[in-house]
Amino acid sequence: MASSTLLAIKYTRGSLEILDQLLLPHQSIYIPVNDVPTAWQAIKSMQVRGAPAIAIVAVLALAVELNNSSSSTASDSPKSAVKLIHEKLDYLVTSRPTAVNLADAAGKLKALTQDTLSAQDVTSNLIVTTFIEAAEQMLLKDVEDNKAIGHHGATWISNAVGKTSDIRVLTHCNTGSLATASYGTALGIIRSLHSTSSLSHAYCTETRPYNQGSRLTAYELVHEKIPATLITDNMAAVLLQQHNISAIVVGADRVAANGDTANKIGTYQLAILAKFFGVKFVVAAPTTSVDLNTKSGEGIKIEQRPGWEVLVVSGPTVTNNPAKEGGEVVVNVEDVRSVKQAANGIGVFNPSFDVTPAALIDAIVTENGVVEKNADGVFPMEEAFK
Ligand code: MRU
Repeated sequence: MASSTLLAIKYTRGSLEILDQLLLPHQSIYIPVNDVPTAWQAIKSMQVRGAPAIAIVAVLALAVELNNSSSSTASDSPKSAVKLIHEKLDYLVTSRPTAVNLADAAGKLKALTQDTLSAQDVTSNLIVTTFIEAAEQMLLKDVEDNKAIGHHGATWISNAVGKTSDIRVLTHCNTGSLATASYGTALGIIRSLHSTSSLSHAYCTETRPYNQGSRLTAYELVHEKIPATLITDNMAAVLLQQHNISAIVVGADRVAANGDTANKIGTYQLAILAKFFGVKFVVAAPTTSVDLNTKSGEGIKIEQRPGWEVLVVSGPTVTNNPAKEGGEVVVNVEDVRSVKQAANGIGVFNPSFDVTPAALIDAIVTENGVVEKNADGVFPMEEAFK
């Protein structure tokens, strides 16, 4: 059992805090996010990241802003309260383009508040309360959904590889408690396999350039006491060749209507490796990541991040402990610095995500269960998610 639950998001009505993921694993500092501009900036700068967490922080920040300004909103007409909410949601959606979860949440909340306008005796207070309660429900539902994903995915992998023990899994990026309301999606499957003693080992990639794997997933795996090993991204082929990996499990930022899946840059190359080595490739995501309006991966906008993320590494300074022979390393967590590690003048390519074609994916796991390809080799997405 973990000593305590890792939480990316701390919410009570009127107050929202997020764990600043730019500082992990060196420092664990929660920062207040009590209004929309702060949420937009926190998402853009990746102080909070991961498709479900982005959506939840955005809508809860608006819920907090509305809650704390309810006396001024009360004087608005219900129609102008709805207009204000819709404008703020539209603005939040512009923070990062690839993950669909925030657009999905915004669409649902816009429809709900619009519908509430036709309620009998509608007031602006009713609009605001309806919004706040629905945003709070999204936080609670994400935790439940992740646990269901964990269970469905673990059962599927176990059956697919015919093992209830000694399962070895590779994952990419961070899809755990830090990327969601809690528990995680792909990492939720790893947690579920671990909880039934089916997992013998988890491997996580470093996930350059932002290092969600080494900074965040490794942190979660250590926190959960799950036996785990970190690899750099370019070690995956050798790992699959030599370490008897049962499955690669990843999250998703957007699953298109044909099953093509956008996820963290590097996912696509892992799927190609999985096909080459005959290893199961599993995508785990809540249904809020499924976008039936986008026909295929070609329609998914891939976020391009700034070049400095590739040029720079950051971390605490290290010194040798003079008291110890052989130079024990002392990590100075209070002194985190960024260091440029590339030649001046070099160009940089920094797409934050890539699209894995459905052809390379064996299973899509959501809270509703597992979708596999039909006899024509196609994921029956409309049937499963409409
Ligand atoms: O750029 P990030 O860190 O937001 O990217 C995160 C991922 O790609 C995750 O795999 C995805 O959002 C799923 S998180 C449950």
